[in-house]
Amino acid sequence: MTDCAILILAAGQGTRMRSALPKVLHPLAGRPLLGHVLAMARSLQPARLAVVVGHQAERIQAAFPDPDLTWVHQAEQLGTAHAVRSALPALADLSGEVLILSGDTPLVEADLLRDLLAHHRREGVGVTVVSMTQTVPMGYGRVVRDAAGGLVRVVEEKDATAAERAITEVNSGIYCVDLARLPAWLSRIAAENAQKEFYLPDLVSVARQEGAVGLFHHADAQGLAGVNDRRQLATLEAVLRDRLVAHWQRQGVTFIDPHSCWLAVDAVIGQDSVIEPHVILGGETVIGEGCRIGPFCDIRQSQIGAGCQVKGFSHLEGAVLEGANEVGPYARLRPGTVLAERARVGNFCEIKKSHIGAGSKVNHLSYIGDTQMGKGVNVGAGTITCNYDGRHKHQTLIGDGVFIGSDTQLVAPVRVGDGAVIGAGTTVTKEVPAQALAVSRSPQIHIADWKKNKE
Ligand code: UD1
Ligand code: CA
Repeated sequence: MTDCAILILAAGQGTRMRSALPKVLHPLAGRPLLGHVLAMARSLQPARLAVVVGHQAERIQAAFPDPDLTWVHQAEQLGTAHAVRSALPALADLSGEVLILSGDTPLVEADLLRDLLAHHRREGVGVTVVSMTQTVPMGYGRVVRDAAGGLVRVVEEKDATAAERAITEVNSGIYCVDLARLPAWLSRIAAENAQKEFYLPDLVSVARQEGAVGLFHHADAQGLAGVNDRRQLATLEAVLRDRLVAHWQRQGVTFIDPHSCWLAVDAVIGQDSVIEPHVILGGETVIGEGCRIGPFCDIRQSQIGAGCQVKGFSHLEGAVLEGANEVGPYARLRPGTVLAERARVGNFCEIKKSHIGAGSKVNHLSYIGDTQMGKGVNVGAGTITCNYDGRHKHQTLIGDGVFIGSDTQLVAPVRVGDGAVIGAGTTVTKEVPAQALAVSRSPQIHIADWKKNKE
């Protein structure tokens, strides 16, 4: 896209969101609204990528520390035309066109902008506005055409007559403008309207006086929808979810009940994996090929290797499953958990910051934290690593082929040598030598006729 800059407007407060968080930082499929627009804009390799910020500018800039962005400050938010005017100095050295986008319109696709630019150049106009048809046009600027179908102006809802409000063709808030002509046109826009703001859509009326305006109608009304309130945010969340699901279905993933699942925009799922109902796959998650993710699993920032089975109601965060693992149901894997190949973690087990060696099993009701566990270990039901002494966390080291009886406590720091056996109910406080049997419980005694003597 030689000779084309992209300018994104993101200075407004987003009053209608009723939120302490700036509107453009509200997440959609796990990524801030503005992040979606930036990712798409970058794919076009613009000559410059500029963002206008004002309300909570520092917070927005901090969320996008990328060096390729040019930040523009609009100290007072006097309207969208004023926002563009604030950006003129940052674009002054460029020629060609600028594509103007909104930070609150997250689903715009790069192809639309390519088509818009081509259309703009073909028509030889100075400004092209992208319009769409919204059956419920509420909140959008309406596109007013003359009897011959020519574009006359865009009228904001608050300034529109009842007849104009009935128009369903609306302004998408996306424009392509010749940079050379933009400053003069902006200077002719006044704030004479219901909101006393400088409206960017007034470019249409201003440029029309020079016969320099064009319209580009686009059919994908869902993809051009803006987010002004939480209801629209939820609507677009559903639209994007459908798009993400469709993408992964095309890659060979089965969703048994796609509408009940939620996917982050950057979640990756391998071919022939099956996602059961009500699954959440959060950001930075990679599911390998041929996995099965059971119902109601919540998986975030985790890597699941090929052929894993994560059974229902398991929560994984920051976990790595190296392959062919079985987890759950009702397992909780916390950050720093690594399951080597074929390791298994069963129901009601919590694992934190621990490495579970190949083929080892922690199958029932256990807590394993800060532990390095070797291969082929069998951890009995109810085993607990006591990793916290009230002040510090300590390590537990378990060798290869260890057998740990049920209801064992391993009081860290402690080491269990290769091939050791720990009797059920043992509290391990000292190093267990390799191949040894450790038992700490007191011998069982029988007191005869106990019940009779009590009577
Ligand atoms: C705007 C358009 C409307 C269009 C709709 C499409 C205007 C006046 N109206 O309405 O015709 O149908 O988008 O979604 O432009 N912003 C600034 N500085 C400001 C004001 C706004 O940077 O002073 C930014 C906002 O942060 C936002 C974008 O501009 O990202 C659009 O502003 P918003 O208030 O959402 O405009 P709409 O009412 O949606
Ligand atoms: Ca808007």
